[in-house]
Amino acid sequence: MENQIESLNAQFALTDELRFQPGENGLPKAQINNGLASAEVYLQGAHITAFQPRGSEPVLWMSSLAQFQRNKAIRGGVPVIWPWFGPHAIDKHKPQHGFARTMEWQVSTTKTLPDGSTLLQLQLNDTSATRALWPHAFELNLTITVGTELTIELTSRNTGEKTFTAGGALHSYFAVGDVKKIHIDGLLGRHYIDQLDGNRIKQQNDAVYIREEVDRIYFDTEDTCTEGICAIFDAQLLRQIYIKRSGSHTTVVWNPWENKAKAMADFPDGGYRQMVCIETANAVDDVRHLAPGETHTLSQIIGL
Ligand code: BG6
Repeated sequence: MENQIESLNAQFALTDELRFQPGENGLPKAQINNGLASAEVYLQGAHITAFQPRGSEPVLWMSSLAQFQRNKAIRGGVPVIWPWFGPHAIDKHKPQHGFARTMEWQVSTTKTLPDGSTLLQLQLNDTSATRALWPHAFELNLTITVGTELTIELTSRNTGEKTFTAGGALHSYFAVGDVKKIHIDGLLGRHYIDQLDGNRIKQQNDAVYIREEVDRIYFDTEDTCTEGICAIFDAQLLRQIYIKRSGSHTTVVWNPWENKAKAMADFPDGGYRQMVCIETANAVDDVRHLAPGETHTLSQIIGL
């Protein structure tokens, strides 16, 4: 572990701006601090666990009970979901939300950009472990840019000889003052699958208010959020978080509410009040079919 951190720093550290260090339970993480913001990224899952623009409160919610165990999903931040969203379509023994969030990624690039933001790129390739779960050759790159905004771009490439189909999501957990005092704009008029009501299709007739457990997949949301209109209005923290997205037609909104929060070992009982997930997704019929050599980029930009 010490050797891994030393060699990562020797190859990729950017003086005081980006350094690798042992995180919780010794899992390696990158700590980024520049003039614009700070952030933290675990190599396991290429998982962003913190983002905070200078002079602002944290934008992402992290569970105080997150487990940080090798090969286990980390609760909070921005889990990278790939190559399937939700339970596996055929085999329920395969991990929920795919395997990208529980595997250790490799660092490929670090860079200071001209505007003072910091770029960190991580890569995941197929191995015998991934092929046992999903029999395809691939290259996955996550490019994270930490500036006044947080930009996350997930590019999947088919490096094999047969077309594959992949879904996924940037499963962002946002920090809010009190979930009962927020509303989400940008989804008005859209249809969604209500995963808590027999997958019935419903229409959003108002802004989204969270007053109970919510688990919805909204369709046709590719044109929302391009002008920063997909936003969380937070009446308690007196702020607005915007999410601009591309490469995605589906948006997932999730809050486990009280009973489900209590049932999750890595989720504090009352934690549902301080978070909401808005996920930039490729779910249901928005999965992507990539021929050999083809790529697809799913991206989101988060800002205040
Ligand atoms: C959401 C799903 O994306 O993720 C929910 O729509 C799920 O159904 C939630 O409960 C959390 O999933 P996990 O695997 O991280 O507990």
